[in-house]
Amino acid sequence: MGLAWRMLANPTLKMIDSERAHSRTISLLSRLGERPTGQYFLNQIYRSPELPIEVFDMLFHHPLGLAAGFDKGAEALLSWPALGFSWSEYGGVTRYPQDGNPKPRMFRANKDRALVNNMGLNNPGASAVRDRLIARKAVNRWPKSPVAANIGRSLKVDNEHVSSDYSATLDILWDYADFFVLNISSPNTPGLRNLQEEDLLEGVLRSCIDIRGRKHESKPILLKLSPDSSDEDTLETTRIAMGLGIDGFVATNTTVSRPVPLTTQSRKALAHDGGLSGRPLHDRAIELIELVYQESSGEVPIIGVGGIESTDTAWNAITSGASLLQLYSSMVFNGPSIVSNIVKGLVRKTNESGFSGIGEAVGYKHI
Ligand SMILES: Cc1cc2nc3c(=O)[nH]c(=O)nc-3n(C[C@H](O)[C@H](O)[C@H](O)COP(=O)(O)O)c2cc1C
Repeated sequence: MGLAWRMLANPTLKMIDSERAHSRTISLLSRLGERPTGQYFLNQIYRSPELPIEVFDMLFHHPLGLAAGFDKGAEALLSWPALGFSWSEYGGVTRYPQDGNPKPRMFRANKDRALVNNMGLNNPGASAVRDRLIARKAVNRWPKSPVAANIGRSLKVDNEHVSSDYSATLDILWDYADFFVLNISSPNTPGLRNLQEEDLLEGVLRSCIDIRGRKHESKPILLKLSPDSSDEDTLETTRIAMGLGIDGFVATNTTVSRPVPLTTQSRKALAHDGGLSGRPLHDRAIELIELVYQESSGEVPIIGVGGIESTDTAWNAITSGASLLQLYSSMVFNGPSIVSNIVKGLVRKTNESGFSGIGEAVGYKHI
């Protein structure tokens, strides 16, 4: 674990509850990482090596990015590259501002290296996030690395209006991300996962693709999948989305299932309602990456997320078919040095395997 993380964040974070710890991290990082001297300082400690890969016609310095949910309001966009990530995804953003579910709503199962969150897509809403991003661009505080926007469903919108809810947010944020992820799979918004049902899914995708058709520049739109759908449903969702022209998939969101807890502390944390992330999610995330890679014949990029916490878990996701990776939970448990440690390990694995670049390792298990 990095010295700076131990000194700056960890002592305070251990004593307070998970969500407050998170808010403090964000405000600490946004103060540090948003300033040139802070960026320099963080970069000296957390810089990752180069392991370039081209995805969606964009150059990523290496595959590993920040997962959705950490920077919901796009407040610390310059901090993520300074901490070693090659790209970041802000959000989930919804059309309307939302407070989310009552607190406490984020719990750590320490020994299991898992989080349970029941945030309920709390965020300032698409228009407020856009205003923030307009201001950021105006003063040249936009990262040089790729930025994705995660779009969620507004709680107050019924199924009849869900397509326009997603596409309105896409429209509002269009100029403020390089690509978009439609979150149809969060367990914490009632009804959201019904979206994976055929008609709703088609409606959302058509409406978003229609908005894109009205823009002068095309940008990739991806679908984020649930680990709790059956394999058959996942294959069906993949087929439908591919048929409608989706550009890629993110596998996977959090799960409502639970592992057998390793300690009493974990048992209490895991007993809360909400989505589980971290180590116990990894095996199912890999299964989903493999399913989608095979069903899509490797034709569209997959972003692998779920329990990425080491060189082996990252390599596992890439050779299963992921072109890019993301993490959230392992940074909570290990601090930001996890990012450069994983990328260093991937560089080593790529060299040991005799590949000329990490791109050659994508989907290698299936050959
Ligand atoms: C507190 C928290 C909030 C999250 N919020 C979102 C969200 O708004 N949208 C989304 O698509 N995923 C969200 N996620 C899911 C993560 O992006 C990721 O898919 C999941 O945590 C698995 O990765 P991990 O095991 O590395 O944490 C959230 C996760 C956590 C822990």
